[in-house]
Amino acid sequence: MLERGQVMKNAEQSFLEGKLSGVSRRDFLKFCSAMAAAMGLPLGMGEKIAEAVTTAKRPPVIWLSAQECTGCTESLLRATHPTLEKLILELISLEYHETLNVGAGHQAEAWLANSIKENKGKYILVVDGSIPVKDGGIYCKIGGRTAVSLLEEMGAQAAAVIAIGSCASWGGIPSADPNPTGATPAHEVLKNKGIKTPVVNIPGCPPNPYNFLSTVLYFLTFKKLPELDDQARPKFAYGRIIHENCERRPHFDAGRFAVQFGDEGHRKGYCLYKLGCKGPETFNNCPIQLFGDVGSGSWPVGTGHPCFGCSEKGVGFTLPLHSPARPKYITPPSLFTEVYPGKEGVSSGIKALATGVAGVAIGAAGAAMMTGLGKKDEDKKDKEE
Ligand code: SF4
Ligand code: SF4
Ligand code: F3S
Repeated sequence: MLERGQVMKNAEQSFLEGKLSGVSRRDFLKFCSAMAAAMGLPLGMGEKIAEAVTTAKRPPVIWLSAQECTGCTESLLRATHPTLEKLILELISLEYHETLNVGAGHQAEAWLANSIKENKGKYILVVDGSIPVKDGGIYCKIGGRTAVSLLEEMGAQAAAVIAIGSCASWGGIPSADPNPTGATPAHEVLKNKGIKTPVVNIPGCPPNPYNFLSTVLYFLTFKKLPELDDQARPKFAYGRIIHENCERRPHFDAGRFAVQFGDEGHRKGYCLYKLGCKGPETFNNCPIQLFGDVGSGSWPVGTGHPCFGCSEKGVGFTLPLHSPARPKYITPPSLFTEVYPGKEGVSSGIKALATGVAGVAIGAAGAAMMTGLGKKDEDKKDKEE
């Protein structure tokens, strides 16, 4: 383990050498600290991440695109501060990506074959899109081969597989009823082929790019995948339901709802439950991670549209858009105070007030990303019940 000063020196040297050209050292360390906070890691882990990514060999990444719309790739490349695209492309060694390849045709396929051979057992395979298995997999072919045979070959030789987006994680849009191509999630294809490479699912349509990048950085830093839930999703991102962190939650609790788009309740920012918001049954960190780096409110519910559960299996692309959610996991908002039985002298009202003030301070510092983390066992219990 390097000392703090040495870490900073290494990071600085890497910048001087142009490894992360265009991103200032200060921005980079800030970024790593924010990533560490978003993953619920202890203070100081941002430096460990910075150390890992500036000293370790860049991990080879091979990107397999199957039945997809390129939205997942677009969301990675359109993020801005501090130029996420740059960080992704400079921190990893992207060996093959159909949209980003410089070469094409036989040249690109030869590069892919060579890269698999050279990086056997070491590369991360990112799968984007669902895999059609009906009729021998003929509905998606790349370079004359079916996506299912490519996944079988590439998945078996990877160190880990990251299924990016709802299509790759659980089928997504292509698997919507009647699923004419037999669209199947990556982990299921691998399981059916007896391939035991670990898989992590990052669902969403598209998923938040930071959830993807955090997972890659975690793997790079700790040489293992982050803690996953029972659907192989990183707990740091999918550990809580949207409804717990939603800024409209006080309106839900007070019974104030928008009933039609554009009505008074909608204009006043009331809860969107009656317009079909699936926040009460969708696990994701959208309200706290936000999208597009443009500040508060930049997520579906923040802009006035109900969450349709794009990241939740059995919700998005399955349930009607505006049907009411089935609130199975109703839990208090994550900023509610806890009750400490036996501690006398502090009224619950004062505790609630203190928690509220602390919550505002935390929010101002951007640490709201961490709210609610560390309560996974309660969730598990809720789900089991
Ligand atoms: Fe496109 Fe959504 Fe599928 Fe990503 S998950 S490939 S954005 S349809
Ligand atoms: Fe927010 Fe939707 Fe829950 Fe209402 S139902 S509080 S809009 S997540
Ligand atoms: Fe998707 Fe709902 Fe988040 S629609 S992007 S899971 S708010």
